[in-house]
This record gives sequence, C-alpha cells and structure tokens, in this order.
Amino acid sequence: EPMAKELLDPFALIKDEVSEISNRLRSMVVAEIPELTLAAGYFFRVGAEGKRTCPTVLLLMASAISKDRADPIVGSKNELQERYMRVAEITELIHVTSLIHDDVLDDAYTRRGMDSLNCAMGKKLAVLAGDFLLSKAFSTAAVSLHNSEVILLLATAVNNLVTGEFMQMTITPAQRCSMDYYLQKTYYKTAALISNSCKAVAVLSGQTAEVATLAYQYGKHLGIAYQLIDDILDFIGTSASLGKCSLSDIHQGIVTAPILFAMEEYPQLHEIVEQGFDDPSNVDAALEYLTRSQGIERTRLLAAEHARLAADAIDGLPESKDESVLISRQALKDLAQKLIKRTK
Ligand code: FPP
Ligand code: MG
Ligand code: MG
Repeated sequence: EPMAKELLDPFALIKDEVSEISNRLRSMVVAEIPELTLAAGYFFRVGAEGKRTCPTVLLLMASAISKDRADPIVGSKNELQERYMRVAEITELIHVTSLIHDDVLDDAYTRRGMDSLNCAMGKKLAVLAGDFLLSKAFSTAAVSLHNSEVILLLATAVNNLVTGEFMQMTITPAQRCSMDYYLQKTYYKTAALISNSCKAVAVLSGQTAEVATLAYQYGKHLGIAYQLIDDILDFIGTSASLGKCSLSDIHQGIVTAPILFAMEEYPQLHEIVEQGFDDPSNVDAALEYLTRSQGIERTRLLAAEHARLAADAIDGLPESKDESVLISRQALKDLAQKLIKRTK
C-alpha cells in the first residue's frame, strides 16, 4: 500500500522571494510625513506581515506557467521575474489597504492578533494611510509593469473589493437569504483580488488567453474555498486560535454559507434570517438550527469542491516537462488542500 504523500510546503519553496517582497514593501511605504510613514508601514513591520498567502500564490503561479524560452515580445526572463515581483507587491499593497479600510468600516479593534490601525492611530489616519498605500500600488504599476491590460486587472480587483463590501453593507433581507448573492459577494470580497492578480501574472508572461483564464480560475476557486472555511471557523473556532472573536459574523448580522445550508433543511430559519440578528434570541435560535443541521458539513464539501476546481485549473495548463514548473504546479494544488484543512 502506498504511503500517504506529504504535501509540499508551498511557503517554504519560495520563502526567499517572499521575504524580498516584504523588504521592498517596507522601503516602498515611506511618506513625506513621518507619522504617515508610521501608519502606512504598520502592517509591513517584521512580525506584523501576516501569512503572505497572496505573494506566495502569485510567485508560484508565475513559475507554474513559465515557458522554457524567453519571449522576445515580453522581455527577458529576468525582466519578467522583476515584474512578477511587482505584481505580488502591488497585490499585497491592495490587500493591506482593504484590511485597514475594512477595520475602519467594522470598528474593529484587532487585526493579525494586534491592535487594528484605527485602534492604534485613529480612524482618520487609518483611512489616509490606506489611500496612501493604494497610491503606492498604482504608482508602482505605472512605473514597472508597462502593460495597461495588467494594470486594468489590478484596478478591477480594487473595484470588486469595493463592490463586495458595498453588497454586504446594503444587503436586503431577501438578499441575506440567497446563496447566489452570498457567493457573488464572497467572490468580490475575497477571491477577486487573487484571481485578477493571478491572471495579471499570466498576461504579463505573454501567455495565451486560455492560460490566463486558467490562472484566473485557480485564484477564484482558491479564494472562495478559503472564505468558506473562514465562515466555518467563525462558528467552530475558539477566539484564542483565531486571534479574533468567534461568532463574529452572526453577531454582526452577516449570514454565511453554514446558515444558508441549514436554512434549506429548516425552512423555519428563513424568517429568523430575514428578521436579522439584532435580537440575541435570533442568534441563539439560528445556532440551534445550525447545530442540528448539516450546515457545517455541507459548507466543508462546497469548500472541497472549490479546492478541486482550483486543482483542475492547474491540471488544465499546457503540458510541461520542466521540473520547477511541475513542482510549482504541485505546490499550488497542495496549497488549496492545505487551505481547506486549516483550523485557524
Ligand atoms: C474583510 O472582511 C474585508 C475585505 C477582504 C475587503 C474590504 C474592502 C473594502 C474595505 C473596500 C475598499 C478596498 C480598497 C482596496 C480601497 P471581513 O470584515 O468580513 O473580515 P475580517 O475583518 O474578519 O477580516
Ligand atoms: Mg472586518
Ligand atoms: Mg468587513
């Protein structure tokens, strides 16, 4: 009987490039005014950088689709490698901006196990620090990418983040009961940044539209799988392991996949979800139905399905015999598996 295969550690494979990105980000976010530098650099300090999943995925993707010969149209291999790094940096800048602004909108006190920026320096400075980081993202794009289609993809990602946040904020009782609405919002809020930047990497490398679409699909399904697990952990995780409060979604009135699945089993839940969760007895009732239902298990299955679709996108890439290409592809598939097995 074959032994269970150890998953590759995708993070270990390219940790040198990712720490180079972290160093560049730290030197990039310097402003004219020292206090703005402090605010903008807050989440880029050593130890405050988070998991850096975005840059890891993007650099693995760049390697997974790389061609044997340099393409005279898009430039030498080294020039290309530099541009991939810039895409990873820009994506990280957009990601951190979205977190900073999200914490202002949510009045959140903690992020990444520390004080949120609005908590540490006030919400006005936090808003401006986010604006500053976004300007750095697009000035880097303008100076380094030399490709307006790629810059447009990154702008689309920002647009989608704003749209997803807006959808959540303006949700109606009927929309709150809709799985389609939930999945669309989830795509915009969580998956659009990584899917559009994966596509940006493929476009930069001068790949065919088919390959660009596969890269996009990988990012999209990875992002959705990630969020579905996040939704489960909000119900079953402990505050200590999550670094943030558990049950925070439902207490904020945010309905996620586990409850939507439970609602299919218990139509009585529909009325409660429509009413919302201002009344604590509605929270208790919804949790009671959730416990009795298959909501958590079905959400896990849906996440596994998206992880499989992400892997399918990688398997759809044109055949390659290059060892490093194959290792990167396997790492991207393993990363999807790891994401759905995570407990924090
Ligand atoms: C976290 O969601 C929020 C996001 C991933 C996106 C927020 C988007 C904006 C604030 C729009 C503006 C963005 C830019 C780039 C200008 P959450 O509150 O559900 O999760 P969390 O607080 O637990 O991480
Ligand atoms: Mg939040
Ligand atoms: Mg939010």
